[in-house]
Amino acid sequence: MKWTEDLAVGIGVIDMQHKELFVRINNLLQAIKEHRCRSEIDGTLKFLDDYAVYHFAEEEKRMQETEYDGLEEHKKHHAVYLRNIAELKEQAAQPRVSGVSYELSVTANQIIVDWIVDHIMKIDKKFGEFVKSK
Ligand SMILES: [Fe+2]
Repeated sequence: MKWTEDLAVGIGVIDMQHKELFVRINNLLQAIKEHRCRSEIDGTLKFLDDYAVYHFAEEEKRMQETEYDGLEEHKKHHAVYLRNIAELKEQAAQPRVSGVSYELSVTANQIIVDWIVDHIMKIDKKFGEFVKSK
C-alpha cells in the first residue's frame, strides 16, 4: 500500500504519522507474505500496535485542544482499529498449518489496510476540514 497526496488531511504532523503507519503496515504485510516466523510477525504486529496507540492519542489530543465536537465518535473508530489489531494478533498466534499465512494476509488486508484508508479518507479528513475552517 502506498500513501498518496489524496490521503492528506492537511495537518503536517498527522500526515507524517499516517505515512509512518503505512510503513509499519507494509512491514507487517511483507512479513506475512514472506512467511516469516511467528516471532517476527508478532514483532511487526506489536510495532504497528504501539504506533497506532501513539498516533491515535496525538489525534485525540488535538481534537480536544480544538474542542472538536466529533471527538467521541472518532475515539470509537480508533478503538475499533485497536481491536482489529488485537484480533489479528490472536489469529497470528494460532498454530500454523499451510494456508494460514494466506488467511492471515487476507484478514490483514481487510481489517488493517482497508480500515485505515477508509478512516483517513472519511473520518480524519473531516477533522482536517474543521481545523482549516477555524
Ligand atoms: Fe483518526
